[in-house]
Amino acid sequence: MSQDPSAPPSGHPNALGPVTRGPAASAKSRAKVSTPRRRVQDAGESWSKPGVAAVASPSEQFTFDLKPREIARHLDRFVIGQSEAKKVLGVALCDHFQHVRMTREGVEAPFYQKQNVLLLGPTGVGKTHLIRSAAELIGVPFVKADATKFSETGYVGGDVDDLVRDLVRRAGGNVKRAEHGIIYLDEVDKLATRTEGAGRDVSGRGVQTNLLKLMEDGDVPVVSPNDMNAQIQGAMSAMRGNASAQPETINTRHILFIVSGAFAGLDRIIRSRLLSAATAGSGDPGWTASKVSRLDVDGLFAQAMTSDFIQYGLEPEFVGRLPVRVACHGLDADDLFDVLRKSESSLIHQYERAFAAYGIEVSFTDAGLKSLARMADQENTGARGLMTVCERVFRELKFALPSSRVRSFAVTPELVADPRGALRGLLKGSR
Ligand SMILES: Nc1ncnc2c1ncn2[C@@H]1O[C@H](COP(=O)(O)OP(=O)(O)OP(=O)(O)O)[C@@H](O)[C@H]1O
Ligand SMILES: [Mg+2]
Repeated sequence: MSQDPSAPPSGHPNALGPVTRGPAASAKSRAKVSTPRRRVQDAGESWSKPGVAAVASPSEQFTFDLKPREIARHLDRFVIGQSEAKKVLGVALCDHFQHVRMTREGVEAPFYQKQNVLLLGPTGVGKTHLIRSAAELIGVPFVKADATKFSETGYVGGDVDDLVRDLVRRAGGNVKRAEHGIIYLDEVDKLATRTEGAGRDVSGRGVQTNLLKLMEDGDVPVVSPNDMNAQIQGAMSAMRGNASAQPETINTRHILFIVSGAFAGLDRIIRSRLLSAATAGSGDPGWTASKVSRLDVDGLFAQAMTSDFIQYGLEPEFVGRLPVRVACHGLDADDLFDVLRKSESSLIHQYERAFAAYGIEVSFTDAGLKSLARMADQENTGARGLMTVCERVFRELKFALPSSRVRSFAVTPELVADPRGALRGLLKGSR
């Protein structure tokens, strides 16, 4: 019996449709939840130090007692909304850990299918932020890379394999541990080789092909064939009879892949598919042409199917190996307000810190935050709009206040609307 490789596994929260997404963020009562400390003695990764190899823990002990809901709660502290994505990630990470644990305990699952995840959604809504925040909890080796890195350098097979070798570095050189790691590939939409549209990098197809074998069951040499130094060292060591007990290859069967991308323009492909099906009467009778025309980007992304990704320019085999798909929704002005007010990673803490460095206390009124959020919403770049707006609003204040006598100020709608006027007032009042 042939199975649709793209179909979500039954029992998975994503099992009912091709792509699920959460209800628009309603972060009304998001209480802070303290996440249980993970008890994984492993080469855990610090996201803040990309490229720095983790120090190997001498202990091989592996205890993981987080539940999907606890992972989602941890994510709630940093990421506003995106409840469906949190759910899907929570389940995928827990499944992965439990699988790793049982495999290490000698309970083999010969028919285990990897639940590789594809996260999509508009720019600046928290896709990378979700994974970055989850990485804090991750106790298996974890590697993050941008797919663009590979398309820029052409399709040298070794490049993609380097991701796997990076896992070994993260695992402090322990191949066995690396074989249970997680690889996160951002910006995968940039690998698409569109037939229409200009300037797409044709090497994207090569990169996708190289990724295929890693995503399923491949063996990657521990020493890169392109790394002459390592090759020579390995040969010399072998001549001296020092060949270590380390395997020569890393098997990727149990490595989990999480990929993400904004997939700008995918909504148009989905809309035209739904519209032609509605016109031809071949689609779901519920999807009338007028209903389809009323769908916004979030609604359309929720209907994404394998064929849409293929038309977008992804290889069928590549999409097929990403069975778990979830769309992040756009952020409206209310969500952006919550991003500022509730997220532990809120930008306002950065501004508080920056002013505090000069002994200046800044306070944010709710009305002031709402004004910032409304302005950011106009930028149409998700939460990234907040950075643009804050930079604009605080530019003069950050320049002038450190050399002034002003010791505190409040961010009000008036200040947001006219930062220069507010600065003049503050300077005048401090004389
Ligand atoms: N839902 C959210 N909750 C809290 N902060 C957010 C959220 N979405 C985005 N941010 C903030 O905006 C920044 C940019 O978001 P992120 O990098 O996750 O975007 P993205 O969805 O990956 O977009 P792109 O497709 O352009 O890479 C984050 O570092 C974070 O500070
Ligand atoms: Mg991103």
